[in-house]
Amino acid sequence: MDSIVVTGNGPLSGQIPIAGAKNACLTLMPATLLSDEPLTLTNAPRLSDIRTMTALLESLGAEVQSLQGGRVLAMSSHDLTNLTAHYDIVRKMRASILVLGPLLARHGQAVVSLPGGCAIGARPVDLHLRALEAMGAEMELRDGYVHARAPGGLKGGEVEFPFVSVGATENALMAATLARGTTVLKNAAREPEIVDLAVCLNAMGARIEGAGSSTITVEGVDSLHGATHPVVADRIELGTYMLAPAICGGEVELVGGRLDLVAAFVEKLGEAGIEVAETEAGLKVTRGDGRVRAVDVVTAPFPGFPTDLQAQMMALLCTAEGVSRLEERIFENRFMHAPELMRMGAKIDVHGGTATVTGVERLRGAPVMATDLRASVSLILAGLAAEGETVVNRVYHLDRGYEHVVRKLQDVGAKIERIRGQ
Ligand code: UD1
Repeated sequence: MDSIVVTGNGPLSGQIPIAGAKNACLTLMPATLLSDEPLTLTNAPRLSDIRTMTALLESLGAEVQSLQGGRVLAMSSHDLTNLTAHYDIVRKMRASILVLGPLLARHGQAVVSLPGGCAIGARPVDLHLRALEAMGAEMELRDGYVHARAPGGLKGGEVEFPFVSVGATENALMAATLARGTTVLKNAAREPEIVDLAVCLNAMGARIEGAGSSTITVEGVDSLHGATHPVVADRIELGTYMLAPAICGGEVELVGGRLDLVAAFVEKLGEAGIEVAETEAGLKVTRGDGRVRAVDVVTAPFPGFPTDLQAQMMALLCTAEGVSRLEERIFENRFMHAPELMRMGAKIDVHGGTATVTGVERLRGAPVMATDLRASVSLILAGLAAEGETVVNRVYHLDRGYEHVVRKLQDVGAKIERIRGQ
């Protein structure tokens, strides 16, 4: 298995380009299942999760052409041959459940394996199923599969989510575009990826209003047509690379970065003493001399502080002056990076959903183990600031969500390389 070796060194400087958002692309791709005309995505990220979604769509009979080295995905679902998403593919990636809504809406039936994904707590799909049931679908759970049917087609209805779920909002939104009548989604997720999906669906002829607020209204239409849509910038990749100069000093410009995508995160960076400025090309992050200040962070659905940046923020706070508290409110069991950071000399106490981090002056390099996607990159960030060499093992998680992480960090002066395993 490959590993990544990071040696802490001085300040970083230069530019890092931000790719299209993995999480947006993973919901835009299944949108192809809603139409028999082609859907083309530009600014797609080149990641293993995108290849997994490609394999899943192809297994259903869709065509997915990867053009311009994977930057453009030209998809067509004019001739689906299969309405079953098998366990073999679905187990690799939780977002596979996003084919359920579109298949059901256009074909009146679907069989989808219950998903796997990152090991960050129990992550059920009950909200997805309940939302589709509110639109008239009949669900049966059998042999690890969801068997869904809507013999007369889906009907518009009112769906009130008991709590915010990004995936369930996406599944319901896609399904509602072809449901008969009006669907109202209440307590919907407000993430930029939802807005991006709605923009794409509207470009395909859907009638969606209110995406980005907690009430979304969808007037169902008979069919959707083709479209070309650029994937929104990846706010999690953006936040992650903003932390690189924040952790080891220097000044880095994130090309394609947008403040509105990371406002809550930038507010916390400001409290810690990191400067963020808008530039013509994106965002510029500067860290001056001296230690950063401790801050308290509570993760929340957008526009709150994203859970997907919690591990990386913890890496920064390990060397802050004072005591920081990080409260994880979205996922249980999402502090698996804490014991690994402690191997590097961090002082962290985890009690339930709260981690208390007492800043130390310097971390020390150590061999560590990546446990999930965001944890992996937090260990790399910590390694950039540590004294000596850090070896991050099990880095295959990284390939799911970060394209060219080694090259992007090398380009701003980091000492980092990937060692091929046996
Ligand atoms: C998406 C993102 C993920 C991010 C998460 C929260 C993608 C592909 N993934 O995941 O990177 O960390 O949003 O911002 O976009 N839940 C239920 N029942 C359900 C659905 C969710 O109990 O049917 C729970 C989950 O276990 C979790 C919470 O709801 O505790 C929020 O999860 P959700 O917003 O659905 O996350 P995902 O869409 O899976």
